[in-house]
Amino acid sequence: MYLGVNVDHIATVRQARGTRYPDPVDAANLAAEAGAHGITVHLREDRRHIQDHDVWSMRKHQPLPLNLEMGNSAEIVEIALKVQPDEVCLVPEKRAELTTEGGLDVVGNHEALEQSCRRFRDAGIAVSLFVDPDPRQIEASIALGVPMIELHTGTFCECEGEARIACVNELIAAAKQAHAHGIQVNAGHGLNLENLAGLFAVPHLHTLNIGHSIVARATLVGMKAAVLEMLAAMKPYALSD
Ligand code: PXP
Repeated sequence: MYLGVNVDHIATVRQARGTRYPDPVDAANLAAEAGAHGITVHLREDRRHIQDHDVWSMRKHQPLPLNLEMGNSAEIVEIALKVQPDEVCLVPEKRAELTTEGGLDVVGNHEALEQSCRRFRDAGIAVSLFVDPDPRQIEASIALGVPMIELHTGTFCECEGEARIACVNELIAAAKQAHAHGIQVNAGHGLNLENLAGLFAVPHLHTLNIGHSIVARATLVGMKAAVLEMLAAMKPYALSD
């Protein structure tokens, strides 16, 4: 199983103050040093976190395969074709949402998706579709001929008990359905250290894309080191009486 690290929320911290730091590319390089297998960034239409220049620097200044998560809009498709990430993951995108709220409606958007998938395929960029574990959406993804899908794990992460078991069963069926057609099965959204193991019952998982929980954890794991650095920087100040 491979780990793709989504560094969007490093940019969220930067955008909150309009500073130049923290740089998501630095976070990507640290993730690479730690053994991550890929980096994901989501260039949203409203540019709330990742900016266009981040995507270009990510392409040039970090070593891991780049997965560009994006809505299927003309503007972002053109950018993706210029930047040439290793893969794109098409997601639904609504301006008011806090984060991606569910899978793509592949059934209802067949034509628009087919057009973009063809353009990416011709450009040598692998396409993934972010879908709910719904057999109709998997079937529509198979019909589009994409090499991979990413199963939306958000609902699985939010529910407990019987509902959690039902979610796992849906994910199992979806993974089997896609795998039987030679499609690589990735998964992501809402995964963290507590809910991760619950996903292990799902077969054929290739890459997990995880962002928020890793960035959230990094702020705590790194807090002591950051405070020690600041205290050391303050030390040269001569105390006057
Ligand atoms: N995969 C997709 C398609 C997503 O939209 C997101 C959120 O940007 C993730 C994975 C990562 O989700 P999280 O930040 O909750 O780990």
